[in-house]
Amino acid sequence: MNDLQNKRILLGLSGGIACYKAAELCRALVKAGAQVQVVMTEAATHFITPVTLQALSNREVFTSQWDDRPANNMAHIELGRGVDAILVAPASADFMAKLLHGRADDLLSLTCLARPLQQVPLILAPAMNREMWAHPATQRNVQQLKADGTVVLDVGQGDQACGEVGDGRMLEADEILDDLIAHFQPKRLSGRRVLVTAGPTYEALDPVRGITNLSSGKMGFAMARAAREAGAQVVLVAGPVSLPTPRGVRRVDVRSALQMQAAVQAEMAQADVFVATAAVADWRPTNASDQKIKKDGSGQTPVLSFTENPDILAGVASSDRARSGQLFCVGFAAESHDLLSNAQAKRERKGVPLLAGNIGPATFGQDDNALLLIDAHGTLELPHASKLTLARQLVEQIAARLPRDGTPVLP
Ligand code: C5P
Repeated sequence: MNDLQNKRILLGLSGGIACYKAAELCRALVKAGAQVQVVMTEAATHFITPVTLQALSNREVFTSQWDDRPANNMAHIELGRGVDAILVAPASADFMAKLLHGRADDLLSLTCLARPLQQVPLILAPAMNREMWAHPATQRNVQQLKADGTVVLDVGQGDQACGEVGDGRMLEADEILDDLIAHFQPKRLSGRRVLVTAGPTYEALDPVRGITNLSSGKMGFAMARAAREAGAQVVLVAGPVSLPTPRGVRRVDVRSALQMQAAVQAEMAQADVFVATAAVADWRPTNASDQKIKKDGSGQTPVLSFTENPDILAGVASSDRARSGQLFCVGFAAESHDLLSNAQAKRERKGVPLLAGNIGPATFGQDDNALLLIDAHGTLELPHASKLTLARQLVEQIAARLPRDGTPVLP
């Protein structure tokens, strides 16, 4: 995915053992399409060489404010102009303290101070020992940096290079990349709360067997990610899939349709948008056996009987919150044929204002898809693209339909 195509990123490294992760980060940024200009403090060069970063960024690395390569001999001005963001990873405790005071005695801090404040966001990925991170001085600095408009990313938790365990590790390269990509997405759902269901459900026959389907959960996870990127608080109710949880999303794992329904009902009062992407099993075995069903050697097969599962989406869509326009519901329809007429009928049957139709066999398990959006006024095709791209487009469509002034949005 070229999520950072045409983005110019100044990647700054200050001193810390997490510099080893900055190499991976640099590579990931380039892979995502960014043009990366690396600037290192003198301390950073003790942990990793400029040669490594030059090779990975495919550009000369800058380390000194006295570098005379820029024609006007003002590296600190030239480097910070025209970039889309300055990302300092790792940002050491000392470097953050320096930024806070507007000190500028090396090229990286100079460039941060000299950047056009309104146009070039400064994003820090802190990295330090847990005691340093927890120290009131560091925490005070973080608060003040945020108040000054700097974006300070979270820190990771776990084993530290010093042998201690706690908060303060730098996030992993892929986590920083995701946060940076999210930073550039329009905040269309800022202040909204979004509830998403994803994946298949699993309906047990006995303790070791059950009935499920081929839904991968990818579309629902992409929806959760896209909503979070757009600034929403997101809860993802996930059926049994092993996908990683999108950054900043609260995940509730469930297995059966009844568990999914219970989780949705517990969360829906706190949601403004409900997106049902899960492929919920239509039926569950009426009496799941507590013990493994055994072959008895007679050649007789077990007789299974089924009970219909509740329709989670239809239930939410008929709630008072949804009917009064406080909870905007979006359904999905996986059809094998006659997409338009089947999806239109489904939208009305479920009583939802917006439904995304797709061809089931073409989407299950795939990274790409195409959607046909249907609302009361007509249809909109979202052509073939990655599920994340489609999810971002769907977020845009949802955001455009949300009440701005309390005006209900009814099916
Ligand atoms: O009826 P069908 O399964 O085709 O409807 C699909 C839509 O309804 C999806 O949005 C799906 O998440 C939702 N659904 C549900 N509970 C069910 C069945 C479907 O929420 N039991």
